[in-house]
Amino acid sequence: MSTQSEFLNAFAQGLSALALYPEGHVSRIRTLDLVFDKAKRLLEEDTAPCFSFIGDDVVYGNIPLREMRGWEWSHKLAGIGVQRLEFDQTLTQPELDGVLDEIGGRFAHRSVSSAEARQTQRRSMQYGEIGMKGEELDVEISSATLSFNLNEESEAVKWMHEEIEVGQKLPLIEAEAVVRSLSVAMHGDQQVMVPLLKLKEYDEYTVTHCLNVSVLAMALTEWIGLGDRDVRAFGVAGLLHDLGKTKIPKEILHKSGKLHENEREVMNRHPADGARIILESHDNLDLAAVVAYEHHIMIDGGGYPQFSYARDCHQGSKLVHVCDVYDALRTKRPYRDAWASEKVLNYLEERAGTEFDNEIANKFVRMMKVWEPQIARVSADEAVPSA
Ligand SMILES: [Fe+2]
Ligand SMILES: [Fe+2]
Repeated sequence: MSTQSEFLNAFAQGLSALALYPEGHVSRIRTLDLVFDKAKRLLEEDTAPCFSFIGDDVVYGNIPLREMRGWEWSHKLAGIGVQRLEFDQTLTQPELDGVLDEIGGRFAHRSVSSAEARQTQRRSMQYGEIGMKGEELDVEISSATLSFNLNEESEAVKWMHEEIEVGQKLPLIEAEAVVRSLSVAMHGDQQVMVPLLKLKEYDEYTVTHCLNVSVLAMALTEWIGLGDRDVRAFGVAGLLHDLGKTKIPKEILHKSGKLHENEREVMNRHPADGARIILESHDNLDLAAVVAYEHHIMIDGGGYPQFSYARDCHQGSKLVHVCDVYDALRTKRPYRDAWASEKVLNYLEERAGTEFDNEIANKFVRMMKVWEPQIARVSADEAVPSA
């Protein structure tokens, strides 16, 4: 469960505890402590959390919290004029207890003057009405959440692959422009978002997958605290990691059944082919070439290209490897359904230390758990209104 959801559940427990137990009761004190603890934890991730309660949705910042959809308290809070709840780092426990007490009072009396309901100011925690009708707000949220679509990036990558298929050099300027633009999409509304594409057609897989791996690689690089240059470089490496697949005949690439041994051999050439295409195109893309070459190598020596000994890979390769497997398993393929995020994260955790670099896999899992609400599944061919 995300920190946001944990806080909201604790907040609701706090409201219940106030109604159930008299002042000084141990359960009441314990629950209020818990709410404050969860608030502080959330403040470690976000200096100014802001929740809105709209119909069945809980919106955090601009992003609906999927796991809280249908949360019964969303309706209850909105019903007493608490459609918005926000606080900052100066929050103290007495203030939080005071807010809970006031909101609890509203539930108890059910009679709230509209002026009071509109805005209750507090220094560090505020709540009140949003001041918009539900319908308008829905539009506002969907456009603010998806203020981008990835049509142009998808087209650019498709074109890039076609150029290579016909023997042209890798168009580096376009590749870098795509990565820049993905990075802008990630940082659009001050907070980081992870815009991942939904797969529409099976033969779009390679394009969709490259964009997603690039976004995930940049998110993870940022998450582990590396600088902007690494973020961009790993983003380019993620985008280009499967470039060698442009050399695989389409009937093998899109085959729905299990690959025969000779077909598997052709498929397994894509890391080496990709590295060669990149190196032949540009001198300064060593990192991307290394990542293309190493992204299927497991840290215990398994995977391919095969070596007779276990070898360490570049950090960028280990990082792209995790992002690569995550996106691949999350996507529906002709031969299997998409896995649920939790199942994929468990898989990554289980294989951390054998297939995946232990630290990188665990950091990825942690990042995805924290950023789950910030993942926007976007579609390349749906026109999404701009904010
Ligand atoms: Fe690959
Ligand atoms: Fe891949």
